[in-house]
Amino acid sequence: MARDAFASWMAGIQHTVEAALDTALPDPSHAPQKLHHAMRYVTLGGGKRVRPLLVFAAGELVSANPEHLARIAAAVEMVHVYSLVHDDMPCMDDDVLRRGKPTCHVEYDEATALLVGDALQTLAFDLLSRPMVGLAPARQLALVSLLASAAGHAGMAGGQAIDLASVGTALSLPELEFMHLLKTGALIRASVLMGAGAGEPLLNTETEKLDHFAKRIGLAFQVVDDVLDVAADTATLGKTAGKDAANDKPTYVSLMGLAEARRFARELRDDAFAALDGFGARADRLKELADYIVARSF
Ligand code: IPE
Ligand code: IPE
Ligand code: MG
Ligand code: MG
Ligand code: MG
Repeated sequence: MARDAFASWMAGIQHTVEAALDTALPDPSHAPQKLHHAMRYVTLGGGKRVRPLLVFAAGELVSANPEHLARIAAAVEMVHVYSLVHDDMPCMDDDVLRRGKPTCHVEYDEATALLVGDALQTLAFDLLSRPMVGLAPARQLALVSLLASAAGHAGMAGGQAIDLASVGTALSLPELEFMHLLKTGALIRASVLMGAGAGEPLLNTETEKLDHFAKRIGLAFQVVDDVLDVAADTATLGKTAGKDAANDKPTYVSLMGLAEARRFARELRDDAFAALDGFGARADRLKELADYIVARSF
């Protein structure tokens, strides 16, 4: 029963976010048509929308305006999709399949993939900075700052740089954790903090607890991504399985083995759960999402 309620909550948010993205993305009949087509091709109709789900789960905890949450969710998803488009390019992971379709540079070309990333990132900040009625400008500015720092050199882009520099090397566990916290954890953390920052103000101690939850779940997400690269197949993943070993990437699986990486993901989830204790039932959605992130099969 609770599982059904969670599944229908997820489907509702995914639908809302799809509509917000569809509205925000450029008209494909307007020039430059190829760029606009490609932006829509990579963004619409795919993906689990985990970051938007976290925005809504955290936002609902503080009774945030759902229209604001839809905009924040669309912005973070755009930054995420841009990161995937660039991650798949030949100069990075060189992947041909994403969300069950040919990757952007395969379907279009490399220059288009580069520009799609650029354009999605700037559109995300455009969307996030348009007036949000009822939210104080200083609080909205804090959302912009959260997304910017999570996407940049101290977050996703920095983590991707470490990832590329680590090919063929053996990282220590702390080095691997640092890389994962940046390349994937930062955007996941920002999703939770932006959702929580859009509603009734929290006490500092409450924000710190949510932050701890978000960091643990962000790391767990990438540990599970490493596990699935080895344990799942291409058809299920919608992206080529086995790429990490083929590209000689250090991962949690290469460092600690499959069973231990799975166990570590569950440990991270339990630690994340504990941080939410003081919130009571208001945090149930976040807990359900944390479970989903660790138990997912793609
Ligand atoms: C894949 O992210 C890339 C990582 C950051 C690990 P997701 O697993 O969230 O990909 P989609 O959005 O569902 O396609
Ligand atoms: C990608 O990590 C993280 C970002 C896109 C920032 P991966 O390279 O492991 O993601 P997948 O497995 O290709 O989705
Ligand atoms: Mg990569
Ligand atoms: Mg990749
Ligand atoms: Mg991966």
